Amino acid sequence: TIEKTFSIVKPDAVKRNLIGAIYQRFENAGLKIVAAKMLQLTKIQAQGFYAEHEGKPFFDELVDFMISGPVMVQVLEGEDAIVRYRELMGKTNPQEAACGTIRADFAISLRYNSVHGSDSPVSAEREIGYFFAADELCPRS
Ligand code: CMP
Repeated sequence: TIEKTFSIVKPDAVKRNLIGAIYQRFENAGLKIVAAKMLQLTKIQAQGFYAEHEGKPFFDELVDFMISGPVMVQVLEGEDAIVRYRELMGKTNPQEAACGTIRADFAISLRYNSVHGSDSPVSAEREIGYFFAADELCPRS
């Protein structure tokens, strides 16, 4: 099935001028960018986006990191896009990420891990809707 998934290029990657290199990974994998924008997240926006992690020991530092500079947010579309994008990213901790994945190649640490991706169809729907209105998605098939 053709799915949509939600992606963030995080502040550590934007600061190191890796937007293009990361977008290239998406396109090389056959994932199509159907919406994209650069944003400076507010604290409220970042806290709301990561609400499921509220109360965890890393929550405040995660939010501070995510507002430390601009991010790129995008919607990726393709066959089994949710699982395929997660494989392309590699494990959350770059030290555990497989060779050739985005996180193995670009991430600095568990916190500064360069990219986010939806972990399920329910998350993808919520996360896309959190940042994009329906009319901001461009059909490309
Ligand atoms: P992400 O996929 O954006 O989802 C939540 C983020 O929290 C995760 O990537 C990591 O950047 C961060 N994170 C998860 N676990 C930890 C941890 N144990 N310590 C610090 N940051 C974490």
